[in-house]
Amino acid sequence: MEELIRLQKFIASAGICSRRKAEELISAGKVKVNGEKITELGTKINPDADKVEVNGEIIGNGGKKYYIMLNKPAGYITTTSDTHGRKTVIELVKDINARIYPVGRLDADTEGLLLLTNDGDFANAVIHPSKRHVKTYIAEVKGLPQLEAIKMLKRGVDIGEYITKPAQVELLKGTSSSSTLKIGITEGKKRQVRLMCETIGHPVLALKRVEIGPIVLGNLPKGKWRHLRKEEIDRLCSK
Ligand code: URA
Repeated sequence: MEELIRLQKFIASAGICSRRKAEELISAGKVKVNGEKITELGTKINPDADKVEVNGEIIGNGGKKYYIMLNKPAGYITTTSDTHGRKTVIELVKDINARIYPVGRLDADTEGLLLLTNDGDFANAVIHPSKRHVKTYIAEVKGLPQLEAIKMLKRGVDIGEYITKPAQVELLKGTSSSSTLKIGITEGKKRQVRLMCETIGHPVLALKRVEIGPIVLGNLPKGKWRHLRKEEIDRLCSK
């Protein structure tokens, strides 16, 4: 996930000066990276992690890390940029002076809890299968699933060359036309919850993620974001 860029490009893109002038500053020994003077022009840096000083002044975000939760609305795609001009989740997280990216993904038509960060170690820690964070979804499905169908979901179903691991499934409410299921899974296969519900004959009408392990979306309004609290970051990483 970490993208390295040339030091002179980073300095120029921070609006300090032209790339040519940046090269002069580097050669003249006016630039430090993580406290160390750098005079070699080819040097690459990680703009999200490295502290760059020009003439003693810190530029960029000085390696500051961001940990954010977003209540993603439907209609936004989970990438940092899109060649087809579709709306991305990054457009919803303004005023962050760092290149943050989503941790894991939600389908364009799924709403709810999405984490974003510029800390690769954090992202890896959260999505690593060994953590087994339960991701909890509220799925509105067509029809009223019977007990046997719910048991199937709990045990694991074949979603096409893959049998899902045991899941937590609860019928919250239902009528013959539509029902609400709470589904907790530890995996993250593409469109997993939709495929699971389809397999039992109750396709998803709307899907929202409400929890990732100890992180709860709560009443954060749709389209809004907030920084994670320190204890939330600690709990996510310590499991
Ligand atoms: N499962 C899905 O089907 N879609 C999502 O966006 C997340 C989990």
